[in-house]
Amino acid sequence: MSEEKKFEHVKIEKVDEGNYAVVSINRPDKLNALQNQTLREIAEALETIEIDEKVRCVILRGVKEYTKKPAFSAGADLSARGGPKLNMENIRHRSHAMYLRHKYYDLIEEFPKPLIAAVDGYALGGGLELVLVCDLVIASKKSEFGFPEIRRGIFPGNGGTQRMIRNLGKMRVNRMMYFGEHFTAEEMYSMGLVSFLVDDDKFEEFVHEKASWLGNAATNALFVIKKCIQYGTQVPLNVGLQFEHWAYALNTTSKDVIEGVGAFLQKREPKFQGK
Ligand code: COA
Repeated sequence: MSEEKKFEHVKIEKVDEGNYAVVSINRPDKLNALQNQTLREIAEALETIEIDEKVRCVILRGVKEYTKKPAFSAGADLSARGGPKLNMENIRHRSHAMYLRHKYYDLIEEFPKPLIAAVDGYALGGGLELVLVCDLVIASKKSEFGFPEIRRGIFPGNGGTQRMIRNLGKMRVNRMMYFGEHFTAEEMYSMGLVSFLVDDDKFEEFVHEKASWLGNAATNALFVIKKCIQYGTQVPLNVGLQFEHWAYALNTTSKDVIEGVGAFLQKREPKFQGK
C-alpha cells in the first residue's frame, strides 16, 4: 500500500495489487464530521485519481484508525460555522456556503469510476448524504445510519431530501427525516440502501475483496453502467434507452470486450486491462 499526496482532512492510499484507491475521511476526533474543506478535499482527492489508470475503483470511508467511536461520518461539523471568510448572518453568504456544499457532493457523484462507501460505524446526516453519492454501500453490522438533523432544528439539505427519495419510498424517507432516529445496518439493508451487509470481523477483508474485483474488472463497461444508471433515472425511458444505446456502442470499442468474450470462448478467466 503506497501513500499519496497529503491533505489535511482526507487521506489517500493506493492498493496496487487491487488497482484501487482508498480515500479516508481523517477527522477521527470529530467522528469524521464534515466541513466544506473536508468535502472539497474528497472531491479534489477523487480528481487527482480520476485519470490514474492504475486506479480503477475507489473506496470512500472513515479513517480506519479511529480515536473515539468508529464512524464513516457523523455529518456536518456542528462545531464549525461556515468558513473564515463567510458571515453567516448574511443570506448571500449562507447561500454561497450551500452552493459550495452542493457543488462538492455533485462533483463526488460525478466521479466516473466505481465509488464504494465502506461504512463501519456512524453514517449520519451529511455522512449519509455522502453515502448517497456513492455507487455501492458495504456496511458492517455495527454501523448506524440516520438523519438526525431535525433534532438540531435543521434538515438534510446537502442533497439528502432529493437523493434519498430516489432510493427509498416517501413514507420511509419521511420517517427518517421527521423523527431523526438511527437505523441499524440490518434495517438499511432490508430497505435496500445497503448493498452488502457484513459481519464486523469480516468487514476489512470483504471491502478489499469487492474493491479488488472491481479494480480488475472491465473499467469502461463499469463507467457506462454508472452513467446510464445515474442519468437514465432522470429522463423519460425513451431518452434513457437512447443513452444506453450509444453507451453500448461506445463500450464495444473497448479492448476489454475482446478480452472478455475471447476468454469465455477459450474457456479461461479474462484479464481485463481497463482499456
Ligand atoms: N460535529 C462535530 N463534532 C461531532 C459531531 C458532529 N456532527 N458528531 C460527533 N462529534 C464529536 C463530539 O462532539 C465528541 O467530541 P468531544 O469528545 O470532543 O466532546 C466526539 O465527536 C464523540 O462524540 P460523542 O457525542 O461523545 O459520542 P457518542 O458515541 O456519545 O455519540 C453520536 C455519537 C454520533 C450519536 C453523537 O456524537 C451525535 O449525535 N453527533 C451529531 C450527529 C448529527 O447531528 N449529525 C448531523 C449534523 S447536521
